[in-house]
Amino acid sequence: MPDLTFVRGDITEQHVDAVVNAANSSLLGGGGVDGAIHRKGGPEILAACRELRAGHYGSGLPTGGAVATTAGRLPARWVIHTVGPVWHGHEDRSELLASCYRESLRVADELGAATVAFPAVSTGIYGWPMDDGARIAVTTVRGTPTSVAEVRFVLFDDAAFTAFAAHQ
Ligand code: AR6
Repeated sequence: MPDLTFVRGDITEQHVDAVVNAANSSLLGGGGVDGAIHRKGGPEILAACRELRAGHYGSGLPTGGAVATTAGRLPARWVIHTVGPVWHGHEDRSELLASCYRESLRVADELGAATVAFPAVSTGIYGWPMDDGARIAVTTVRGTPTSVAEVRFVLFDDAAFTAFAAHQ
């Protein structure tokens, strides 16, 4: 069971083995965390994503899936891209959000990453309510067998930090 830590900060500045990107299925960039990772990590990340799209992920990365690339110029060694579900009030998509955390940890184990930083997947542009996103994130990581030693939740603002810290 990894140590769970909670920090306020920017995911692109984390000195960990792998940072998780709240990507979209195209893997070709976007706003929020995704925009920041590609901007600061440089073109190597996008080049690696394009290779994935030209190979196994021709139709994109499915929601709830995860795949790794280089982290380019980021302090981390790898970026693990995951695609969160868009919030939908009339349909329970929690299992897909849980899958983002489980699959990212599975990929981290494959890489041999000891430290992994997660943002609050789906809680920005994809509209997931922060409290519920925090609950799913923390309970899923706690319930997932992994060799990762530290899982760091990197929260961008006070509201996110408070929501996650409530599950500490
Ligand atoms: N570091 C840590 N957290 C951040 C950062 C940062 N640099 N920037 C934003 N957040 P989002 P999503 C927080 O929108 O909801 C993109 O266009 C943010 O406040 O990045 O999964 C993709 O390409 C929020 O709490 O991801 C997809 O199309 C959380 O990170 C779509 O957005 C996630 O916000 C994915 O939307």
